[in-house]
Amino acid sequence: MDRSERIALILAGSLMVVFLAALIYAARGLGMAVPSCVTDVAPFSTGRIIDKGNKHYEVHVVAKMWVFDPPEVRLPAGAEVDLYVSAADVTHGFYIVGTDLNLMAVPGAVNYAHMRFDREGEHQILCHEYCGVGHQAMAGKFVIGPLPAAAAVASGGSAGAGKQLFQAKGCAACHTVDGSAGGDCPTLKGILGRSEETANGKTVLVDEAFIAGYMRQPNHPQLKGFQPIMPRIPLTDSEVQQLTDYLKTL
Ligand code: CUA
Repeated sequence: MDRSERIALILAGSLMVVFLAALIYAARGLGMAVPSCVTDVAPFSTGRIIDKGNKHYEVHVVAKMWVFDPPEVRLPAGAEVDLYVSAADVTHGFYIVGTDLNLMAVPGAVNYAHMRFDREGEHQILCHEYCGVGHQAMAGKFVIGPLPAAAAVASGGSAGAGKQLFQAKGCAACHTVDGSAGGDCPTLKGILGRSEETANGKTVLVDEAFIAGYMRQPNHPQLKGFQPIMPRIPLTDSEVQQLTDYLKTL
């Protein structure tokens, strides 16, 4: 064997031994583990923030087209978080920008990570797995800072509640409310009282009854120039009313 060949073999072999040693040290010495699904937590369908006391929180996040539930998680500085992530429809990603926390949100499975938040500020959460037309706008946030008074959340009456629902249910991922072209979905600015053309050439007047019916049974009728991509989102009667009241203000 040529001398340079032998040197290359020895170097490559030593490198393998170094890699193996580093792997064993990380697993045994540092306690690092490859992320894997949690098997002792049943998949859940609603997001929750559970205060365990002593700044210890358990946060359940459900990713769905195209929103995280809960869309915003407020925690005090120093919070120790046990984070469980699942998905309701397709596979999504869950990445807290600026941290190394990056999980997959998989339907029927639960992924877990532990994280401590020391600094006050906002952390954006992004979906990093392509999940449909609203993917690029699928975002949430962790806000670390003083917790707001509970009363402040429920201000703005029915339209205010509708505005929050519009974000929380993922509508804002596709529809704009300022009249700009949303691309795949019609803008909802001035939607009440507007006439729309359906795919089969009819003209419909968008009134409250039409809007409520459309939320319950999306894509009926199909609108001209748009694909029938609006997902069916479970809404209670009062949520439909709140969303309609919000749309009236646009
Ligand atoms: Cu959810 Cu991309």
